[in-house]
Amino acid sequence: MLLGLGTGSTASFFLALLAEAVRQGELKINAVASSLHTAARAKELGISISEPRRGARLDLTVDGADEIAPDLSLIKGAGGALLREKILARASRHFVVIADSSKRVAQLGRRRVPLEVTPFATPWVMDEVGELGGSPLWRMDQLRPDRPFLTDQQNYVVDCDFGLIADPRGLAMRLKEISGVVEHGLFLGLAHAALIAEGEEIMVLRPRKPPVPLSQCDLILD
Ligand code: A5P
Repeated sequence: MLLGLGTGSTASFFLALLAEAVRQGELKINAVASSLHTAARAKELGISISEPRRGARLDLTVDGADEIAPDLSLIKGAGGALLREKILARASRHFVVIADSSKRVAQLGRRRVPLEVTPFATPWVMDEVGELGGSPLWRMDQLRPDRPFLTDQQNYVVDCDFGLIADPRGLAMRLKEISGVVEHGLFLGLAHAALIAEGEEIMVLRPRKPPVPLSQCDLILD
């Protein structure tokens, strides 16, 4: 299998379990990583990392999320890897989200929507987001708060607060139209399933199907 590897604390648990299965000889995989950090960690764990190649579609990508709505629309990008994460999600036959129940929401928008932005355009992107009512915040580096956070592509991130988002598709279209926005953290119509830890139970969420405990679910992906 060719796997897409996500970024973040939840995805790193998956990475560790995946590496163990590879070590035990239970799985034979190649992987593409959604961040330089994930690529480095995967290599340390003995998982071989490939670069994207023409015609090489991913079989499955597994990644975390910041918010998960009932229709499996997502907000992603708190870790700043949203661009490559979306590239992998789109290049995958199957995209599965893993998270704990704190990430489930009735409607997207409690958390900020991150935008990856070309540095040159950042002030004007923030003006346009402000006009859309998005209260833009320029993300700073956590370790060096006097410096902007830089993505793996050396772009900036602007975090936007639109409040509860009534029309995620409409908002996604408007954000894409802003020159200088490379990608936004709304992942719409991409996730095929979400595995949510709720106490001791794992719930399986799929679009247009009622949630079901993993123990009662024969087939997660059609
Ligand atoms: C990385 O940019 C993000 O999209 C993460 O996938 C998301 O923030 C979830 O991260 P945690 O699993 O650390 O909460």
